Amino acid sequence: MLDLVVIDMGYRYFINPVETAKKIMTYTIKEGQTAIDSTVGNGNDTLLLAKLVGESGKVYGFDIQNQALDITRDKLSKSEFEKRVKLINDGHENMDRYIFSEVDFIVYNLGYLPSGNKSIKTTASTTVEALKKSLILLKDNGLLLVTCYTGHEGGKEEKEAVEDFFISLNQKEYNVLQFNFINQKHNPPILYGVEKL
Ligand SMILES: C[S@@+](CC[C@H](N)C(=O)[O-])C[C@H]1O[C@@H](n2cnc3c(N)ncnc32)[C@H](O)[C@@H]1O
Repeated sequence: MLDLVVIDMGYRYFINPVETAKKIMTYTIKEGQTAIDSTVGNGNDTLLLAKLVGESGKVYGFDIQNQALDITRDKLSKSEFEKRVKLINDGHENMDRYIFSEVDFIVYNLGYLPSGNKSIKTTASTTVEALKKSLILLKDNGLLLVTCYTGHEGGKEEKEAVEDFFISLNQKEYNVLQFNFINQKHNPPILYGVEKL
């Protein structure tokens, strides 16, 4: 999988973690699969997931803000993907109340809704709780992607909590990768990729 990403980087040079996450989704998600967008926001990842899983696939999307779900519902209604997406107005830390079978792919884009109230954001404790539940729901060879931002209040603590959790995972059960620019100013995002073995 990484080979494919590196090959593509050859065309566009070093793409940022957010674009890398999209590339990984595009290369790995297959028709008929089930995916979770744990932070729906403006729905960009939800729409991409819905396109990739195809008509026979399923996408679950979580957000605590109705505003985000309304924006996404509106985008979905203008596409042919509406029927394959279930939007849930609840925190991702409660995903085990809604999803009872294993999934192929889970994505998180942490922080706040760019166009919304910046004080409503993901938090270290609920994010780690959700990540634990995500790994239980993930199939073997399933992928989990998490993009963290450190520029806002609480972002650094959240990134450290996410990283501490990922570092603690047994390498016989999970492969964990980190993608980030290490020479950029202004707190560039950090992408973590987890493959369940
Ligand atoms: C950076 S935005 C996501 C952007 C989105 N991926 C997109 O494509 O537009 C983060 C979102 O996480 C949501 N959020 C915050 N805490 C949450 C939680 N506990 N569970 C689910 N979503 C949460 C926020 O409301 C916000 O919409």
